[in-house]
Amino acid sequence: MKKILVIYYSQTGQLKDVVDSILAPIEKNPEVSVVYEELKPKPPYPFPWTAYQFCDVFPESVAEVSCDLQPISCDMDENYDLIILAYTVWYLSPSIPVTAFLQSMQAETIMHGRPVLTIIGCRNMWLLAQEKVKQKIKKNGAHLIGNIVLTDKTNNLVGVLTIAVWMLTGKKDRFLKFFPHPGISDQDIKEAGRFGENILRAVADDRFTLTQTDLNTRGAVTVNPALLIMEKRVSKVFKIWSDFIRQKGAAGDPKRSKRVRAFMVYLITAVIVLAPLAAILASVLKIVMKDKLATEVEYYTQNSLIKSE
Ligand SMILES: Cc1cc2nc3c(=O)[nH]c(=O)nc-3n(C[C@H](O)[C@H](O)[C@H](O)COP(=O)(O)O)c2cc1C
Repeated sequence: MKKILVIYYSQTGQLKDVVDSILAPIEKNPEVSVVYEELKPKPPYPFPWTAYQFCDVFPESVAEVSCDLQPISCDMDENYDLIILAYTVWYLSPSIPVTAFLQSMQAETIMHGRPVLTIIGCRNMWLLAQEKVKQKIKKNGAHLIGNIVLTDKTNNLVGVLTIAVWMLTGKKDRFLKFFPHPGISDQDIKEAGRFGENILRAVADDRFTLTQTDLNTRGAVTVNPALLIMEKRVSKVFKIWSDFIRQKGAAGDPKRSKRVRAFMVYLITAVIVLAPLAAILASVLKIVMKDKLATEVEYYTQNSLIKSE
């Protein structure tokens, strides 16, 4: 009997739907047992978020500051053949509960020496979050063998708006009955079961021959050069804002509320004014930096860790 441990954190259930779809072919196989470990922050993060709460998790997300988690319930000494880490992205970083898990002693115990496959379900900016996750997987003595990413495929600006409305109202409807549904499309979630077939074949085979190239031929990872440029620029500004807010206090500290609100104004301005300008700049850079970008795209499409951001 092969054993897979799935560790995940999903607020609205979108990422869990992705996980369920990917694992459906595996669940049908009696030779493989799947154990699910849901990460539960203590206290839970709110959903829907108020605008302030949404911005108050920003500094710690970027600075990778842990939160408290409820105790892990899976058997940590079990000899898992594969660990699947499914996570969402908060501010170009893994969500805080996932960061908390990856930085815990339990993560090292569970992961050490084991193959890990990551599943990301986010809006569309995940490249630098995955670099942070790659580093922590390595630090925990595990090796990353595959990555599957599902994103919202609508236009970047439309996606920001529709996700923001979803996060702040809790409603996953079409905003004003005009905009598309927020998040990952139902069709993409439904079709994600194809990746489960690859995983199942690899788990059944003692040599565990799962390659990112195989997964990529089925559409596991697509890197958009324009978003790569934008993500790198935004992450530098995020770091400055994160440090600036954290100087005034930790999460929830009223002393930092003015700075959190200032960040809120920046975020709205950045989305409305700066993002369209950045998109134009990115399309110019895409032409000017064609070769450098091609190398970078190749790097982010695979799983080794050759540089730190
Ligand atoms: C505070 C916060 C920040 C987010 N930042 C990003 C981001 O930087 N990049 C991205 O692609 N998605 C971002 N998202 C969207 C999430 O990755 C995810 O798609 C959404 O929260 C739904 O996930 P769920 O399965 O936990 O409900 C953010 C969501 C939240 C709540």
